[in-house]
Amino acid sequence: MEASEAGVLASACERRRTVRTFDGTPLSPEACELLETLASNDENPYRIPVELRLIDAEKFGATSRVIRGTSWYIVGSLPRCVHAEEAFGYVVERLVLAATAHGLGTAWLAGTIDRPAFEHVVGVDRDENRIMPAAIAVGTPAPRASALERVMRSKLHADERAPWNTLFFQGDLAHPMASPDACDPAISAAFSCVRLAPSAQNLQPWRLVCSDGRIDLFEDRTLPLRSIGDVQLVDMGIAMLHLKAGLARRGVHGTWSFDGPVAGAAGADASATYIATISY
Ligand SMILES: Cc1cc2nc3c(=O)[nH]c(=O)nc-3n(C[C@H](O)[C@H](O)[C@H](O)COP(=O)(O)O)c2cc1C
Repeated sequence: MEASEAGVLASACERRRTVRTFDGTPLSPEACELLETLASNDENPYRIPVELRLIDAEKFGATSRVIRGTSWYIVGSLPRCVHAEEAFGYVVERLVLAATAHGLGTAWLAGTIDRPAFEHVVGVDRDENRIMPAAIAVGTPAPRASALERVMRSKLHADERAPWNTLFFQGDLAHPMASPDACDPAISAAFSCVRLAPSAQNLQPWRLVCSDGRIDLFEDRTLPLRSIGDVQLVDMGIAMLHLKAGLARRGVHGTWSFDGPVAGAAGADASATYIATISY
């Protein structure tokens, strides 16, 4: 990732909020072109091809009951395979952050969409070898959130994040980091980007263990598996993108690997599943 792109994405981590209320105006031709260009970039650490496109969902009779004032969505699918969800999260979050940087609002939607209609649009209902982990509403944010959105944000504690010492660890999962001051400033700045990431039901399943020159990522899954798969793996892919951008903004260029954590990094915490490592 280029330093200039990393700077834009990492700053957008700080500005992004889920937007469910849009101003009702159609997307401008420039915004459509931007989103289509962003949707064509499917680079991800797993090299899984991800097909994304921008649609006016109204034309397909596809809606979300929580979204007001836009009918534009980014939809897509990818092969049903190991790491598909993380790859989808990584690719789509890069688009979400770049769209945020251009003043657009976005909402990740895995549950509160008319799933059969969206799955029909991308064809996964006719191809059992592909999945559609989520769709993303996009548009110009309205000046004021709908009453429904305000209630949702309050119930989800959407402006809050779990304490630092429950997400970030030193050496293994038995040793929480007390505060951002407990590690190198470049690493703690990147961890702050991770902490601000969106996640299904704001459950923040990521656990990051820092040791010499590497960070191991674990998933603490709390949502039950459903037919759509492990949505919290999408959250993990999102966290990976935030970590990569946060590090690259500070000139730390990490390399992904997936060959298991350093011995004992999971510690006594059997509920955490190893996902990936970034080395620098
Ligand atoms: C993979 C994923 C799926 C989500 N699914 C939904 C959804 O179905 N409906 C919804 O209203 N919000 C959904 N969200 C948005 C989260 O509720 C939101 O990210 C979280 O509450 C934190 O708020 P914030 O994004 O404003 O920081 C989803 C987010 C992610 C990352």
